[in-house]
Amino acid sequence: MTDLSVLESDLLGAVAAASDLAALEEVRVSALGKHGSISALLKGMGAMSPDERKEKGPLINGLRDRVQTAIAERKAALEEAALSAKLAAERVDLTLPAPPRRKGSVHPTMQVMDELVEIFAQMGFEVAEGPDIEDDWHNFTALNFPPKHPAREMHDTFFFNPDEKGERKLLRTHTSPVQVRTMVSQKPPIRIVAPGRVFRCDSDQTHTPMFHQIEGLVIDRDINMGHLKWTLETFLGRYFETDTVATRFRPHHFPFTEPSAEMDVRCDRSGGEVKVGQGDSWLEILGCGMVHPNVLRQVGIDPNEFQGFAFGLGVDRLAMLKYGMPDLRDMFASDTRWLQHYGFSAYAVPNAATGLD
Ligand code: DAH
Repeated sequence: MTDLSVLESDLLGAVAAASDLAALEEVRVSALGKHGSISALLKGMGAMSPDERKEKGPLINGLRDRVQTAIAERKAALEEAALSAKLAAERVDLTLPAPPRRKGSVHPTMQVMDELVEIFAQMGFEVAEGPDIEDDWHNFTALNFPPKHPAREMHDTFFFNPDEKGERKLLRTHTSPVQVRTMVSQKPPIRIVAPGRVFRCDSDQTHTPMFHQIEGLVIDRDINMGHLKWTLETFLGRYFETDTVATRFRPHHFPFTEPSAEMDVRCDRSGGEVKVGQGDSWLEILGCGMVHPNVLRQVGIDPNEFQGFAFGLGVDRLAMLKYGMPDLRDMFASDTRWLQHYGFSAYAVPNAATGLD
């Protein structure tokens, strides 16, 4: 019969010497595994006489318990050491950007809005804002739309149900009410742009019920259409990144400007693409004009003292022209493949130093 105390000290020595979990497992198998030394002793107990079993049984069981305990303790110690070593070796740099998974991107409309704001900010314009839900006065009346005038219908307005006072709120049909809000709350001189969402009940390849406009307004003394033309040409040159912008005014009608015009920009349409700054085609790009004296009166500005110009243009359309998206409806379909393709990196912040895109 094996000398139990020798076996025990051998096994405990091997357990203590096991330098990793794999080595410890080898020791465990050699002692307690199917063909292990302690397992053999336990098996041998069956063949013992009752007296012998009574004498040797507790010794063998005691040996097994102590070896089992030693293995469990060594295992816990090795696991803890392994974890500490892993933690010590691992360095997490919390300042690193998260690894890209499904990459988000900046929508072209938002990117272009940032570009526009950057360009106009350089020209001394501030950004103004107004609510998406407007009242009739700001959206129409103060802008010199006569009551019942068909122009109100022209805008395909989304009206809310009348409230208790009978007032019918609406989703603003253009960013022009921000002109009114600004002139009511600020004294001239005023130089603002107002980018934002607008809503019209209309949907086809070139119209969506929600789209984006940017409004511009300048109110000061001795403002004339020359200032308007210079401002818009400078802006278009910077936006389309060309020195060869050519524009023309076409007479138009807006209730809130007099005279009113649409501005076209010279472009090349050959090759299925619109290229601004070359060619012999014209592309309608925005509406503009000199602020109507009635609008100035509505907001308490004396038209004999101050004049101004205003302009408004579609941001989504401007984005499509520069970045080549063919269908306006795709812009708001939330198709991640489209967004992945046309979207911008969040780090590509438009600024004058690094370029606009
Ligand atoms: N609000 C006009 C529209 O949505 C666009 C517009 C035209 C704005 C002329 C202006 C302007 O400020 O002067 O159709």
